[in-house]
Amino acid sequence: MAETKFPRVFTGAHGPEDGAGETTPWPDDVPPDQDDTWYPLRDDPWRARRMEYVIAAFWAITALCGLGLIVVYCTGGEAQYEGWLLLGAFATLGTGLLLWARYLLPGHDIAASRGHHVSDPEERAAIVESLSRGTDSLMSRRGFLVKKVLVPVGGIFGVAAIFPLASLGNRPGRALYHTKWYSGARLVTEDGQALHVDDIMVDGILTVFPEGYINDSASAAVVLNVGGALVQARHGQADFEVVSGANGIVAFSKICTHAGCAVSLFNVFSMQLICPCHQSTFNILQDCEPVFGPASRPLPQLPLLVRPDGYLIAATDFVEPVGPGFWNRSGD
Ligand code: FES
Repeated sequence: MAETKFPRVFTGAHGPEDGAGETTPWPDDVPPDQDDTWYPLRDDPWRARRMEYVIAAFWAITALCGLGLIVVYCTGGEAQYEGWLLLGAFATLGTGLLLWARYLLPGHDIAASRGHHVSDPEERAAIVESLSRGTDSLMSRRGFLVKKVLVPVGGIFGVAAIFPLASLGNRPGRALYHTKWYSGARLVTEDGQALHVDDIMVDGILTVFPEGYINDSASAAVVLNVGGALVQARHGQADFEVVSGANGIVAFSKICTHAGCAVSLFNVFSMQLICPCHQSTFNILQDCEPVFGPASRPLPQLPLLVRPDGYLIAATDFVEPVGPGFWNRSGD
């Protein structure tokens, strides 16, 4: 009969099956590697105690790293220091857990033949008792480590981990739905010149901002003179093209709806705007619908008007949120 290993808790009349339908009784003398109460330092209490202190020392370093994180963060933050402190905290926490598992917990496999017999109530109770003893050994047999060290250290490190949440800043609210454009805002170029309807030639393109907000990148728009071409208004939207003499002028957000790069390339032959980051291509004559690339939304259009003195102004803000699509998902 092959040698069969089994856990100490099985002390009932039924033992492992021998292959011929017979069972052998469980022996009284259980080898250490089949004893579910055995762990490497069980027979050496002094070394076990010393190992507890070693583990506690590692976790004390974890706590110090956590406190250091809080201090560094509250004094202005420094990414490199924070990174090293996080590394130290996780490394010492993990090392302590590894030492605990390696030297103070059973940690070895216990195998037994299942056999064909049905366990009697006594055996089932013994199994339940064995399982709960495993939990006990983890949580209560090392009360010093769990209650006096691990819980406080976990608390300090947990608090330190919460601090970076403050870096997320204020909730954006509905700010992402609006730019600085407003009804009557003059279109000005990057050097602050107000744009006259005759300033932009046919097939010309210019970057513009609302007057007074030249550095507001979310408001950046491209103005194009498509000449006699007609820009097809999007279904459900008004026709926002301004036609003045030979000029057909339209304006669209400059922020790519894929990932927010500046749409800066203009192909006059195909009347397409192209984003240089991932080549999303927008058909100007079809209301800047994407026709190629990863962008899935058209570039929002800026409604334009011409003042009596010929200067171009915005009729309203963009009629939809600018930028990547995820910005307005909650508002869909
Ligand atoms: S950001 Fe424009 S294509 Fe990706």
